[in-house]
Amino acid sequence: MKPRVAILISGRGSNMAALIEAAAEDGYPADIALVISNVASAGGLAIAQRSGVETLVIESKPFGKDRAGFEAVLQAALDQHRIDLICLGGFMRLFTAEFVQHWHGRMLNIHPSLLPSFPGLDPHGQALRAGVKISGATVHFVIPETDAGPIVMQGAVAVHDDDTPDTLAARVLAVEHRIYPQALKLLAAGETKLAEGLCKSPAIPSSDQILIVPPAGA
Ligand code: GAR
Repeated sequence: MKPRVAILISGRGSNMAALIEAAAEDGYPADIALVISNVASAGGLAIAQRSGVETLVIESKPFGKDRAGFEAVLQAALDQHRIDLICLGGFMRLFTAEFVQHWHGRMLNIHPSLLPSFPGLDPHGQALRAGVKISGATVHFVIPETDAGPIVMQGAVAVHDDDTPDTLAARVLAVEHRIYPQALKLLAAGETKLAEGLCKSPAIPSSDQILIVPPAGA
């Protein structure tokens, strides 16, 4: 049986769409069984419905600071749909340590920076202000700290001198859409190994690719 995945969103859901598209391919080792949004107006809901994926809205706003109350309703929905794995896709709500612990090793997040650099809000602005020449995206297991946890996969892009947060975000988003389905595939196929706070994929051949920015010796 393929693991059943719930994708949690709060907004446009482009990473969700990339996961749904990948999982529709023959041989993909996970089923996207459910999309849950904590925001009723999230654009991603309509995309999921068009793809034939069941959707659920569990508004978090009425719960205010009662994170455990929200999570009790969320957990009941996940149980009811026999969910094995969670993918956060732009889900803008923090979890309690208890919820995170319950899903330890079974919940992924994507963040648009090369973590541990630039967690939190405005990662592209942070990257541009720091003057880094390479940025990217990270898929990681969720731990109680925000935008941290064992890294499953990263993808990198060159930062351009004339980049704005928006132009950089667009190039990084294309990377996100490639690495999230690949990272979920590794997890669902049992090809990730978690030990001592790190994630390794021993069965995957390593890469010697180099990205140099600005290009050297052109
Ligand atoms: C994505 O860029 C994702 O990496 C980011 O939110 C965006 C959601 O877009 N997540 C975070 O910043 C998490 N800290 P999407 O709804 O189109 O997938």
